[in-house]
Amino acid sequence: MQDSAAIRRAARILQAGGLVAFPTETVYGLGADASNARAVRRIFEAKHRPADHPVIVHLRDADEVAQWAREIPPAAELLMQRFWPGPLTLILKRAPGVLDEVTGGQDTVGLRVPSHPIAQQLLRAFAGAIAAPSANRFGRISPTTAAHVQEELGDTVDMVLDGGACTVGIESTIIDLSAGTPRLLRPGGIARAELEALLHATVDLADDGSPRASGTLVAHYAPTARVLLVEPDQLEGAVRQHAADNGLAVLARRPLPSGIAVPIWRRAADDARSYAHDLYATLHELDRSGCTLLIVEAPPPGPEWEAVRDRLQRAATGSGRAQSSGAAAADAP
Ligand code: TXA
Ligand code: MG
Repeated sequence: MQDSAAIRRAARILQAGGLVAFPTETVYGLGADASNARAVRRIFEAKHRPADHPVIVHLRDADEVAQWAREIPPAAELLMQRFWPGPLTLILKRAPGVLDEVTGGQDTVGLRVPSHPIAQQLLRAFAGAIAAPSANRFGRISPTTAAHVQEELGDTVDMVLDGGACTVGIESTIIDLSAGTPRLLRPGGIARAELEALLHATVDLADDGSPRASGTLVAHYAPTARVLLVEPDQLEGAVRQHAADNGLAVLARRPLPSGIAVPIWRRAADDARSYAHDLYATLHELDRSGCTLLIVEAPPPGPEWEAVRDRLQRAATGSGRAQSSGAAAADAP
């Protein structure tokens, strides 16, 4: 945990145009002053992220939204009131003056008020808005501990604030309210059903396939190991088929069946919330173990599993690529 001197130092680094990685309730963010174009460009360099991918602007509270968005529809007011601070990002029409570096040149801006106490303290000490994507290389697994950030970006950030393990464990839900009908750009920490209940409307998943939200690219959140996502009734067959592979690891919601030996069998949580909380930490750990093939038992079909299912599908699609070879960005679609 961090003392107030560390928070003040982090705020000074942001004011000077530096990069600070900080905890949020979802995942760790790689933060820069959202009003400083040079500082925001440094985020993209550190992540090897294509410049046309917008970053989320983190705000202290909902009162600051008017400085960043030129239109705040009634649905946005409702959502902010109910879910902020918390793991929900709103896409709104951007206010004049919001940097192209932040929006990826689009007419919209992504805004979120994080609830993590260190994120809140940092926003208050800095007294500005913090542009921050997840603190990982583009296309890779998001960090849920300070150690994950150190490992992957330790050399390129000016400071990492340590707030322990993130409580939600996967990224915020992103809802686009900039074009009339609300659309879900990314399932995440807040279930779609909760948004729909509040708005009294269905919220459809955006399916235009455009890369406006990089987390929506088909291949993303990927470990180095090849990931096979298999339905529960096929798990045992798949495991038996690969059991002789020394690099095999299995992530399943049940214990190791008797009569099979595998190098690593990780028992995953039965409820969606705990599963999400552990997911990236488990993937980081399995990657570090040197496993080369990860068989994952597909999660159940219930709506509370939507975000976990989404991340596992993208991990399976984007997995097995060379790690930390500066080529990561070129490898990603
Ligand atoms: O939980 C989170 O959202 C974490 C923490 C650090 O806040 N942040 C995060 O940022 O996941 P990032 O950049 O890894 O993912 C944010 C997503 C990206 O896919 C980005 O393209 C999308 O939000 N996004 C940001 N602004 C947008 C906009 N104006 N229109 C559409 N998508 C946007
Ligand atoms: Mg990300």
